[in-house]
Amino acid sequence: MTRYLLIGPMGSGKSTVARVLADRLHCSRHDSDELVEQKVGKPVQQIFVDDGEPVFRTAEREIAARLISDESATVVSLGGGSVLDPATREDLRAAAARGAVVAFLDVPANEASRRVGLGVGRPLLLGNPRATWVRLLAERRPTYEGIATVVVDTGSRSPEQVADAILGSAEKP
Ligand code: S3P
Repeated sequence: MTRYLLIGPMGSGKSTVARVLADRLHCSRHDSDELVEQKVGKPVQQIFVDDGEPVFRTAEREIAARLISDESATVVSLGGGSVLDPATREDLRAAAARGAVVAFLDVPANEASRRVGLGVGRPLLLGNPRATWVRLLAERRPTYEGIATVVVDTGSRSPEQVADAILGSAEKP
């Protein structure tokens, strides 16, 4: 079964689209933030506050490695910053070489902030959420684009339409 690994910035709808994909494919979904929270035992925001970003990134890397290499994990959504880790990027490239779809969910800033308000529960965006989000995406865009096997603009699409576009990309030769 083709696997779907979702990457992209905060607010691009990775978790929502993963739910739609899992529904369509009748499989479970796996979300790196949720698994990090289970592993560390507290919400992402609290990990940043109590333990610091490096602790979060270490846990995120371990979870990402496990999820990306697990061929039975058909639908995976990865936290927006997971691709900063070179080993995670390598794992994603290797999965793509084995046939996985690595989908970069792109989104304009106004749509991302409409969807999630951008501040809530996202420690990296404290202070000036919108400007920080725009800067982070500008920094990370080349990385997302470099790894993705398909780029889907989610700005004007519903989660169902995004899922269709991702599934359609797997059908192409
Ligand atoms: C982060 C994205 C978040 C979460 C953490 C850091 C990032 O995940 O992992 O707040 O560095 O972009 P989402 O992309 O699911 O919001």
